[in-house]
Amino acid sequence: MPLPEKVSGLVKRVPFYKDLRQRYDLDRLRRAIAAANPLNVVIGGGQRLYDGWVFTDKDLLDIANPVSWQKLFVPNSIDRILCEHVLEHLSIAECRVALAQCGLYLRPGGLLRVAVPDSYRRDTAYVAEAAPPNAGHQVFYNVDTFTPILIQAGFDATPLEYFDRDEQFHAEPWDEREGMIVRSARFDTQKEFQRGDLHYTSLIIDARKPHR
Ligand SMILES: C[S@@+](CC[C@H](N)C(=O)[O-])C[C@H]1O[C@@H](n2cnc3c(N)ncnc32)[C@H](O)[C@@H]1O
Repeated sequence: MPLPEKVSGLVKRVPFYKDLRQRYDLDRLRRAIAAANPLNVVIGGGQRLYDGWVFTDKDLLDIANPVSWQKLFVPNSIDRILCEHVLEHLSIAECRVALAQCGLYLRPGGLLRVAVPDSYRRDTAYVAEAAPPNAGHQVFYNVDTFTPILIQAGFDATPLEYFDRDEQFHAEPWDEREGMIVRSARFDTQKEFQRGDLHYTSLIIDARKPHR
């Protein structure tokens, strides 16, 4: 490795540099949030960047930490939140905190579209990937366990894609412009999870903040 690159690698690990970098990234994110109209936010985004959406991941927005939300948003200001395959990485208690924060910062009528692995899908390849503790997952939800958590958090919940307890798949029409879920009946193409016409699927639920 050439020396300057080695030095810059070391510098990046210095706490002072990390603080500076985070402050810079947060300022940039705040500017993107201020400029966005509508305000659509991806949380726990990983590698997924979508046009018209403000991207966040844990380093900038720890969804289980209310202070982290407070640094970026004002209540009732977000139009849509997209959360694909993130909440299964949290404990149930952390998930409840994250959902309460989504509810606080969404505008009335705003939409949280959420996807998690579906424990009512029981084929071997799927379970091997999705069941905790695989892939850092903590919880394996299904439509009967996750819908009540969303309702208890104050949302109106509409399941869009899911297996039921008899392992029958259900899919309602949904518009990807309101939040793209890649691990879904229409968009996933991972051959190793193929099952009939389906590939990887998720429990996908639209959780809407009521107007009242
Ligand atoms: C399996 S990846 C999914 C990434 C992306 N959403 C996707 O669909 O490919 C899980 C993501 O959850 C994020 N994550 C885990 N805990 C989080 C937290 N407390 N706050 C925000 N993001 C978190 C990780 O940083 C990671 O990007």
